[in-house]
Amino acid sequence: MSEVLIELPGSGVAIVRINRPEAHNALNAAVRAGLAKAFAELETNEEVRCVVLAGSEKVFAAGADIKAMAEASPAEMTNNGADHSWRVLREFSKPVIAAVNGWSLGGGCELAMHADIIIAGEGARFGQPEIKVGIIPGAGGTQRLTRAVGKFKAMKILLTGEAISAREAEAMGLVSEVVADEAVFERALALANVIAALPSIAARKIKELVLAGADLPLNAALSMERQAFWLMFDTVDQKEGMRAFIEKRSPVFTGK
Ligand code: CAA
Repeated sequence: MSEVLIELPGSGVAIVRINRPEAHNALNAAVRAGLAKAFAELETNEEVRCVVLAGSEKVFAAGADIKAMAEASPAEMTNNGADHSWRVLREFSKPVIAAVNGWSLGGGCELAMHADIIIAGEGARFGQPEIKVGIIPGAGGTQRLTRAVGKFKAMKILLTGEAISAREAEAMGLVSEVVADEAVFERALALANVIAALPSIAARKIKELVLAGADLPLNAALSMERQAFWLMFDTVDQKEGMRAFIEKRSPVFTGK
């Protein structure tokens, strides 16, 4: 059985699904390696323009595998390959939509935060419970969560370890959209299809700018955006998009 499944339904969309139901999709070495392999493959697959990252209908992921690391040493944690896996996800250049049903805890919440859009079911629950097992988040929880929801909401989640509902997560800016539990995957897929049909160079540039710009002073980020904006005029899709608008027809984008 493979812990991470890839589906290619066509139209430029890929689906990456975590498949470890016996442990609530806990992120052990096999899941982490599977995710890294999947995203590395999809990065170089020119047919793929947007990815849906999903767990099961019951759980997105319940965090790092506690049983696998309970007796680990710092050296073992350093050498376990997790850093490499997270880096592959972090550096993935195409838009990723997380489809979250059920628990999204610890490394699971951090995994969702690696996505660019998060669609959550009404019953989804997000949290960083690491403190309850004597550790702290290790895959961006203290940083991405704080950037997403601000200091005071983040501190409450991180310091208490208590989970929040999808609606609370949406209200504080951690979730893009909340839908009925049974509609999560279809909604994520529909959005992925919309994005995959749009100019892919522009989509990748938007992702790059939003992420890189967040760490820069505003003037530097605006300058970076300006350079990228000018570069768009060297793409075939820019010419096609604008000509199609003027000629009152549907554009045919080629990703060039
Ligand atoms: N690691 C290993 N196994 C896990 C797991 C995890 N994170 N989460 C769940 N499981 C296993 C359980 O041990 C159990 O296995 P057994 O049947 O063999 O006992 C199985 O999955 C089902 O779990 P529960 O019986 O606990 O299911 P539940 O419905 O009663 O509770 C839950 C669900 C609230 C998610 C609960 O399982 C839970 O609290 N899990 C741990 C969550 C957590 O602390 N995550 C943070 C991990 S640390 C981390 O992620 C570090 C980081 O930043 C990278």
